[in-house]
Order: sequence, then C-alpha cells, then structure tokens
Amino acid sequence: MVLSTGTNKIKTAVFISGTGSNLKSLIEFSKLKKSPISINLIISNNKLAKGLRYGTIFKIQKKIISFKNKDIAEKKILNELEKNKIELICLAGFMKILSKNFIKNFKGKILNIHPSLLPKYKGLNTHLRAIENKDKYSGCTVHFVNAKLDSGKIILQKRVSILKKDSPDSLAKKVLAQEHILYPKAILKIFSL
Ligand code: GAR
Repeated sequence: MVLSTGTNKIKTAVFISGTGSNLKSLIEFSKLKKSPISINLIISNNKLAKGLRYGTIFKIQKKIISFKNKDIAEKKILNELEKNKIELICLAGFMKILSKNFIKNFKGKILNIHPSLLPKYKGLNTHLRAIENKDKYSGCTVHFVNAKLDSGKIILQKRVSILKKDSPDSLAKKVLAQEHILYPKAILKIFSL
C-alpha cells in the first residue's frame, strides 16, 4: 500500500459517473492538513456527469472517457493515471465495472464506496431491495476493489436505520449523508501509521 510521506500527499484520482457529492466531500477532505491524499484527477465515463463541475470549481484536471469500447477506455485511463503519477483510485458513484486486468495494475490501490452494508445487496437498487426485504437497517461500506463486484476487503461501514415511512429515495439521502463522512474516515484508517 502507498504511504503518505512528509508533506507529499498521495496522488489520488476519483472516478465518477453522476452527481459527484462523494467527490465533493473527498475534495474538501483532501484540503485538510490531516488528509493523507490530494485529488489530482477526476475521471468520468459520462460527459453529462454533474460532478464534473467540481473539477472546474476546485481547478482539478478532469478527463471524460467513453466506455463504448472498454479495452480502449481502460488503456486511456491507465495512460492518464501514469501521466499524472496517480497512486490511489477512489471510485465514487462510478457505474462501470473495471476489468480484472485494470484492477491488477492497481492492486490494493482502488477503493470503492457502496450504498449498502456489504456483503448484503451487491450491485444496483440497494435501497429498494433493503426496503422490500423489510430490513431494519441499511448503510454504506468503503472497501478495497478486487476482481469480484463489491466483494473486496471491507475497510469501514456505517449503519443507518430504515423507518417505516422510508422510500428508496429518502433512504438514499440518509445513506449518502453518511457516505460523505465514511469515505474520508476510511482513508484516514488505511493510511494511519
Ligand atoms: C452513492 O450513493 C454511491 O455509494 C453509489 O452511487 C451514489 C453516487 O452518489 N455508488 C454505487 O452504487 C456504486 N455501485 P454521488 O455521485 O453523489 O457521489
């Protein structure tokens, strides 16, 4: 695992596909003295991703890379990562599945945040599934990314109560608020010496 040394922060790329609220919280965290990471690159597979505006606001380089051809897309991304000397990748609402080969290139250096208490509800529609199953709790998980979807080693989780009145949307909002706290905490946890 890469380690923060002296004043040099760990050069990090954040991958997004949509709103980018986790990206925003990671950028704000990265600016704190206690943060071991700096955000140097934003990658999006979606040119319409709202989160791309944070690249403009915070003057962080952003690259839009179409996944029409995954092989080509991943080669382009690896090239950008190398050019920018990226040491850590944070997936934050990135809705594409990275290939085994890509993950091998960054083994142990890719993190993801997922809106459920893994290993429950891997994949999509996590909030709907938790409500339909009448679960009392849902939550979010930060984990290392391995070759299997949403299955890498768990770093931290946060539980959120599901109330009778909750809809998938209201639950998503509650969980998202916790995600913004959990992702920075998980980064601090893995890089604390
Ligand atoms: C977040 O809830 C994140 O956990 C989820 O997408 C949302 C992105 O929100 N990620 C996944 O479902 C990945 N499988 P954001 O764009 O506002 O950070």
